[in-house]
Amino acid sequence: MALWVLFLVVAAVATIVSATDHIVGGNKGWNPDINYTLWSNNQTFYVGDFISFRYQKTQHNVLQVNKMGYDSCTIEGALGNWSSGKDFIKLDKSKRYYFICGIGGCSNGMKLSILVHPLSQSPPPRSAVSAVHSSEKSAANGVGGFGSILVLVGLMAFVCAWI
Ligand SMILES: *[C@@H]1O[C@H](CO)[C@@H](O)[C@H](O)[C@H]1NC(C)=O
Ligand SMILES: *[C@@H]1O[C@H](CO)[C@@H](O)[C@H](O)[C@H]1NC(C)=O
Ligand SMILES: *[C@@H]1O[C@H](CO)[C@@H](O)[C@H](O)[C@H]1NC(C)=O
Repeated sequence: MALWVLFLVVAAVATIVSATDHIVGGNKGWNPDINYTLWSNNQTFYVGDFISFRYQKTQHNVLQVNKMGYDSCTIEGALGNWSSGKDFIKLDKSKRYYFICGIGGCSNGMKLSILVHPLSQSPPPRSAVSAVHSSEKSAANGVGGFGSILVLVGLMAFVCAWI
């Protein structure tokens, strides 16, 4: 019984601190004529997070390039390429990443530069803050999500205290 409760608590906590998936461009996706600098300035990326590119695979693709490739819209020295139309890319290093569309889109704004921060710069407050925000939001909407997980953790702690 106690073990089972402990397992649930661990699972709930793991859910709260799990990696974020940053959907490039939000609901506009990976398309021309979007300022991806504005988009990335609005996000904080940490090692272990994902970014996902969503686009028409017949029209665009995703190439990871270096700074020169980013600045000049060339694919020389490409470090990786994706073309499924729904690509999840794990940000596994703390560094600056550069992505462009390799089929023409780069000169129409399809270029993205992001700085990935080490986890040591992401103290527990980040998770706590985002969980609290989500919980406020979900309380406001009356929807589950993190809010209900927090409630679950609270309940579990309460139960544990009584075992
Ligand atoms: C995107 O927005 C940034 C910040 O306002 C600006 O500096 C940059 O020139 C814009 N890029 C394009 C391609 O419009
Ligand atoms: C930045 O984030 C806020 C809050 O999530 C959102 O309302 C806004 O549209 C975002 N701006 C851009 C340029 O993505
Ligand atoms: C894309 O990836 C494949 C396999 O990893 C590689 O053979 C090909 O050269 C890459 N293309 C570019 C433009 O980097």
